[in-house]
Amino acid sequence: MKKKSLISGLTALFLFSSVALFAIEKPTPTSASETPENVQTIIKKSCFGCHNSNSGNDDAKEALDFKKLDSLSLMKKISAYKHIGEIVEENKMPPKGFLKKYPERKLSDEEKQVLIAWAKKEAEALVKGK
Ligand code: HEC
Repeated sequence: MKKKSLISGLTALFLFSSVALFAIEKPTPTSASETPENVQTIIKKSCFGCHNSNSGNDDAKEALDFKKLDSLSLMKKISAYKHIGEIVEENKMPPKGFLKKYPERKLSDEEKQVLIAWAKKEAEALVKGK
């Protein structure tokens, strides 16, 4: 009886310390993997409707899927962020026809700058391996 409780005590201690160790060693997420809220709001307003896994727009979904962005290979992810920055900079997205129908989805100059800066930062962080 005594021996058994010693064993379960040791087991509990062992379990406890592995959990504690795990908690310490668990890496804290880097800022690069979390999309800031202001960026998310802009993407939801002007991009996400076409560029997501459930989009009925197959061309848009194939070109860019914000839901799957994180699971892409490193090279594809870097390329995706670069394209996002370039395309916003060149005023190619959202598409003109779409904006005629939904003028309220147009990006303001400030929103453009926020998106461009974010995409650039993400691409650079990935290149540096952060
Ligand atoms: C009305 C639907 C629609 C919206 C809204 C939209 N896109 Fe697109 N997007 C498309 C389509 C369709 C394509 C693929 C064909 C093309 O390149 O024109 C595309 C392509 C892209 C590409 C890939 C181009 C390339 O050459 O790799 C990027 C990057 C992109 N969009 C970013 C965005 C961003 C950022 C936003 C929001 C600011 C946005 N899109 C909003 C429909 C949309």
